[in-house]
Amino acid sequence: MINIKSEKEIELMRQSADIMKKVLKAIEKEIKEGITTSYLDYIAEKVMKENGAKPSFRGEECPYRGGKTYSHATCISVNDEIIHGIPSSRTLKNGDVVSVDVGVYKNGFHADAGRTFIVGEGSDIAKKLVSVTEAAFFEGVSKAVPGNRIGDISNAIQTYVEKAGFNLLREFQGHGIGREMHEDPGVPNIGKKGRGERLEKGMALAIEPMVTEGSPDIYVAKDKWTIKTKDGKLTAYYENTIVITDGEPEILTL
Ligand code: MF3
Ligand code: CO
Repeated sequence: MINIKSEKEIELMRQSADIMKKVLKAIEKEIKEGITTSYLDYIAEKVMKENGAKPSFRGEECPYRGGKTYSHATCISVNDEIIHGIPSSRTLKNGDVVSVDVGVYKNGFHADAGRTFIVGEGSDIAKKLVSVTEAAFFEGVSKAVPGNRIGDISNAIQTYVEKAGFNLLREFQGHGIGREMHEDPGVPNIGKKGRGERLEKGMALAIEPMVTEGSPDIYVAKDKWTIKTKDGKLTAYYENTIVITDGEPEILTL
């Protein structure tokens, strides 16, 4: 069932999203060689607390972890880790490609967003990967208008990424969002135009292309949570929470 949000509910989502913007800004400021991913997680949670919000991710069930719940505020995935990286004492190095995924919960509503940062001087391929991933999000979001279907968003993302010579994860997708972090409908990053649910004013979606430099084949790491590329090549990810309006979609977390 797809929840259509009222203007009142969208206003509450904007408040969660405004805190998200502060969190992402703080993380961007702190990312540098020598810091740990745990430190970034600490910063994210600190900004949430200062703004009366809670991390959406804490307490989330980890499906392939035997029902164990997640205990951090962010997922931080480095290089060949594409998503669900667990903050740790890992130290960031020059050139690392760092994807930070954040969920903010306040007043009963979630905002979900993420960015990929390059530490210091990145390789040309890393820079291209990050910019293609970001641009793919905007290709997708340009199709998020009433009357279109979910498949129009998916197809725009897929077409753009594959044209650039990169690939998308098939096993993970974007999602509806609101009172729950994951609501209907799913928003795949691969799909056909004209397929899937019809888009309507008041739908809130988290759109999140997850892009691999090489093959999109993945495996679950020893921690039973982090998703990595089998070929060990780089990955990038970019996510915002958006709302469908009468006209252009509103990107709440940007
Ligand atoms: N933000 C992720 C998503 O977009 C979920 C993070 S998994 C969690 O679906 F366990 F950390 F919550
Ligand atoms: Co998400």
